[in-house]
Amino acid sequence: HEADAQRTDLMTLTRHVLNEQSKHAEARGDFTILLSHIVLGCKFVCSAVNKAGLAKLIGLAGETNVQGEEQKKLDVLSNEVFVKALTSSGRTCVLVSEEDEEATFVDPSLRGRYCVVFDPLDGSSNIDCGVSIGTIFGIYMIKDQDNVSIEDVLQPGKNMVAAGYCMYGSSCMLVLSTGNGVNGFTLDPSLGEFILTHPDIKIPKKGKIYSVNEGNAKNWDVPTTKYVEKCKFPQDGSSPKSLRYVGSMVADVHRTLLYGGTFLYPADKKSPNGKLRVLYEVFPMSFLMEQAGGQAFTGKERALDLVPTKIHERSPIFLGSYDDVEEIKALYTS
Ligand code: AHM
Ligand code: MG
Repeated sequence: HEADAQRTDLMTLTRHVLNEQSKHAEARGDFTILLSHIVLGCKFVCSAVNKAGLAKLIGLAGETNVQGEEQKKLDVLSNEVFVKALTSSGRTCVLVSEEDEEATFVDPSLRGRYCVVFDPLDGSSNIDCGVSIGTIFGIYMIKDQDNVSIEDVLQPGKNMVAAGYCMYGSSCMLVLSTGNGVNGFTLDPSLGEFILTHPDIKIPKKGKIYSVNEGNAKNWDVPTTKYVEKCKFPQDGSSPKSLRYVGSMVADVHRTLLYGGTFLYPADKKSPNGKLRVLYEVFPMSFLMEQAGGQAFTGKERALDLVPTKIHERSPIFLGSYDDVEEIKALYTS
């Protein structure tokens, strides 16, 4: 009977967020509206990504350079859809996208209280081989929407009011935190609705997997090198860890969240700040990790304490299971 009740009582993302928001006395529904526009963007990108394979087939039949162009188009297209959806929501005042050099200040007539930072299509080098890619986003509340400047965006990640990602994989999943735990929703394509399938996600306290681009090992610093060595040749009698690396942050972080372990994009001699961007990659994922009971560390400090000085700033990142990140922290402070 219980299974039957669950099948017929669908907890949609909108219903879930409305429930959560109704607990806040001064909730005005703005956040729910903003989120529904983000969800629209995710559904659009999901459908576009699914068609990308088809576009390639057509390309193969005729013009050879269609493939490259298609891939580029998908990034740009996704960005345009998100910028338009967020602007027209009437709930945002400033947007930062990985695709745009400058922040977008929303026309005063359409302004709302929120700032959204996002990477519309992360891991795009994986599109052509059909590997999972995703959208990452973080949301800040702005004090004075009529006097907003770039400084309002350069806030530490701990000030975010919500963060999440959408993964376009074998299924389309949206993982979200509004600062009250982490929940996962799966898109039911026949309904066009995200349904709560992974309530209250908690990351295992310790994991058996590490995830890093080991091709950069030659240029790593000592603590990263020691950590990976420890994963492969543990000295405490434990079994070596498994290595998993998709090369798509959303997929690698998603697996880390569900199975436990670590994901790292460390600094190296060639990229002293690592590769990943603070505002729309490092912060949202760190926010989700902490909300799920894990940790996120930059090699120097708690990732969410970092104060960015420019919108496309990068930072090294080590995130995942609580105990595993504790080990990495010990190597950096010893
Ligand atoms: P992108 O924003 O250009 O797509 O790059 C970000 C991606 C992440 O999804 C992933 O974690 C990382 O780059 C992989 O980098 P590398 O190929 O150096 O291992
Ligand atoms: Mg990216």
